[in-house]
Amino acid sequence: MYLTRLDIHGIRNICSASLSPVDGINFFYGSNGSGKTSLLEAIYLLGRGRTFRSRYTNTLINHDTRQCTVFGAAKSKEHGSAYTIGVSRECKGSFQFKVDGSRVSTSSSLADALPLLLMNSDSFLLIEGGPGGRRRFLDWGVFHVEQHFQPLWVQHQRSLQQRNKLLRRDKISREELSSWDDSFIRLSNQITEMRREYFNSIESLFVEMIEKLTTVKGISLRFYQGWEEGRTLASILEDNFERDTRRHLTTAGPQRADIKVSVKGRAASDVLSRGQIKALVAALLVGQGQMFRQSRGKQCIYLFDDLFSELDRDSLKRLLRVLASVKAQVFITGTDHSPLVRVVESEEIQDFALFHVEQGKVGSLNDLELKGEAQ
Ligand SMILES: Nc1ncnc2c1ncn2[C@@H]1O[C@H](COP(=O)(O)OP(=O)(O)OP(=O)(O)O)[C@@H](O)[C@H]1O
Ligand SMILES: [Mg+2]
Repeated sequence: MYLTRLDIHGIRNICSASLSPVDGINFFYGSNGSGKTSLLEAIYLLGRGRTFRSRYTNTLINHDTRQCTVFGAAKSKEHGSAYTIGVSRECKGSFQFKVDGSRVSTSSSLADALPLLLMNSDSFLLIEGGPGGRRRFLDWGVFHVEQHFQPLWVQHQRSLQQRNKLLRRDKISREELSSWDDSFIRLSNQITEMRREYFNSIESLFVEMIEKLTTVKGISLRFYQGWEEGRTLASILEDNFERDTRRHLTTAGPQRADIKVSVKGRAASDVLSRGQIKALVAALLVGQGQMFRQSRGKQCIYLFDDLFSELDRDSLKRLLRVLASVKAQVFITGTDHSPLVRVVESEEIQDFALFHVEQGKVGSLNDLELKGEAQ
């Protein structure tokens, strides 16, 4: 699926903007503070019903207009059907989501109508940060492929909270705790099997994308289930009883799962440069998007904020080549357009549109202007 039209009102410094993106690479360029990230934020809002910049979504509403609306017309490449998505909010009210003119109550309906993946400066945390980010990344994929995952995950969270609550009590016996553990272990095993199955099916796609997008040799990925392989969670919980009661916390289980990323046996975050990390993250993201496409039969939209920082021309070339070959709709921002235009020309990428952003206003550049701009 891809967006054919985008109307944005009252998002940060964008009072009003309308554009017709191409089903290919769309590039927004402009100076600092012009509104590029805000444009991506508006698209993200359409697909996720929230912002990626803050926990408080109302911060994205323009200070003067005090209300915001984002409207998108989209087309499904797979079925050719056209539909609309709308998100609006008054400063004090709550968000209203509409798909094809009908109110929908959950943001997951938006995610279904406009699946998207974002890469911005926070994405470095996928490699440099703790396991939580990698777990969420993995779970995003499992959730979209395995419809039973979400309810099980919620039940598991509840069961974990219950277990931790018991561990916070002053005195708790082994017997008392283990009577609660049956459901915790059952849910843990179910979640873990879904994650493992998903990871096994996506691993080759990750490897393929890593080979296409990076030049680093020896990158490997391994799924860590959250406790020692080859042992049952029941026996681990039994062994950990003293430690868990001392720490008032369950120290083993799917809540500790991870994707271990290493380069020739060392943690990737200790070895790779910033540019290499960025290319690796892009590879994981595109791999995830392609897996989504294979399993759900729909293409994701990719958002890349501030793509050029840290990426050299060859890395950029590799990424644009892959993005053009997977035929996804892509939105990229950057302060300077010339590196991208040069790559687009050298790679002969046809589906490309350039938009200039200035003080919250968005203008599209046609072919002639584009050629002039590139010189
Ligand atoms: N709620 C708001 N209402 C009005 N303006 C806002 C609001 N929130 C942020 N802004 C302003 O919107 C402008 C655009 O910010 P944005 O982050 O989109 O810029 P950018 O083009 O991505 O810049 P950079 O190149 O530095 O990343 C900034 O000047 C910012 O101060
Ligand atoms: Mg920005």
